[in-house]
Amino acid sequence: MKVYIETFGCAMNHKDSENILAKLKADREAVQTDKITEADLIIINTCSVREKPIQKLFSELGSFNAIKKSGAKIGVAGCTASHLGREIIQKAPYVNFVLGARNISKIISVLDKKGAVEIDIENDESLELYPSLPVSNFRKSINISIGCDKQCSFCIVPFTRGEEISIPTDLIISETQKAVENGAKEVLLLGQNVNNYGRRFSSLTPHRDINFTGLLKEISNISGLERIRFTSPHPLHMDNKFIEEFATNPKIAKGIHMPLQSGSNKILKMMKRGYTREWFIDRVERIRRAVPEVAISTDIIVGFPDESDSDFNDTLELLNIAKFEQLFSFKYSPRPLTEAKDFKNQIADDIASERLIRLQAIHQKIMEDLAINRKNKIYSVLFDSFDSESNCLIGRTSSGLLVKAKGEKINFGEIRNVKIIESMRTQMKGQIIF
Ligand code: SAH
Ligand code: F3S
Repeated sequence: MKVYIETFGCAMNHKDSENILAKLKADREAVQTDKITEADLIIINTCSVREKPIQKLFSELGSFNAIKKSGAKIGVAGCTASHLGREIIQKAPYVNFVLGARNISKIISVLDKKGAVEIDIENDESLELYPSLPVSNFRKSINISIGCDKQCSFCIVPFTRGEEISIPTDLIISETQKAVENGAKEVLLLGQNVNNYGRRFSSLTPHRDINFTGLLKEISNISGLERIRFTSPHPLHMDNKFIEEFATNPKIAKGIHMPLQSGSNKILKMMKRGYTREWFIDRVERIRRAVPEVAISTDIIVGFPDESDSDFNDTLELLNIAKFEQLFSFKYSPRPLTEAKDFKNQIADDIASERLIRLQAIHQKIMEDLAINRKNKIYSVLFDSFDSESNCLIGRTSSGLLVKAKGEKINFGEIRNVKIIESMRTQMKGQIIF
């Protein structure tokens, strides 16, 4: 069986696609193809966080159906599958199955059931073990929790991925050990609200009392593992103990995502984010003090309902204080099931577009300034590939920055010190020194 799988959205969606493929490989000896016309099974793993990907889903489904091999099946998985369920088959009757984001483990059972819809939002997949696929580029993503318990007023995820359940610590440890045995040097711990780990475990099994900081400590004891990353954490749960562990544990990579969303206290409250602008600034300053080489990325939504010029200016001002190394910015998109879609004073699209442009321009300037400061510094870089065009080795710093380097022949998967010769906004060039 040849499978074509297209994945939209977050890192967890990519991991879900990997898990789907792993099951198909083990059960049906499936192989992945990048040619739709050759596929016996086409899966679109969807995202529903903003509206655009949903429009794209139906236009893609139509064009995939038109070119697919005769007899090939089409399945829709992920958050839009959870949210729209049977409606997808009503709109596109040639779709064979719909597999919600919390029902990924049921991939084999829906394959031969025409019209199957598996979208149980209470399904507990936290104990599920998937066959492992080979490690690529020395990195492996490991789920540590499913669902999200926060109810940010703009966000559809709690409705598509359901209540938060942490995966048992022992399972995470054994999955990480397996990944390291298979060649991984770096793991990416995944959850929608990753640092709320330990809040609730499956009722189907006993569990230990442990939080995210404790989990990081345990994982870092695995020998052969060099770097631990995680996404996405919530700023609210970044307590002092966590920051201390982040700063002092050499295996924890020094890049962190701190999704701000807005710099205005009024908007943060309407978003139900649970922190204030002051708390956020305090966390950033504390992290930068403890880890001077840290790279901080963020998510910002512009044009949230009732966002005034003054609220937006608060966000711009915070950008200049925090000086994020990376920014993911979005225009607010009203989502079904969420509270914010019914808020008064929805912001006109042209105003939101203009704010997005201003925000991104300020960020570009910040990135330029940060880049200048990196010149002549020395970074430890994990090399994973070679770029024949530039004749350079390619790797990432602990903080996640992309580095191209010339120097002696090294084995991929090795960490080396690199002196930065040229530093641009999104990548650096350097020389391996030892
Ligand atoms: N905790 C999750 C967040 C999922 S959504 C994670 O693991 O990434 C990712 C980002 O999309 C959010 O941080 C937010 O900035 C943005 N987003 C979510 N809902 C949105 C909406 N309705 N409109 C615009 N952007 C949104
Ligand atoms: Fe969404 Fe907020 Fe959870 S952004 S995924 S409800 S932390």
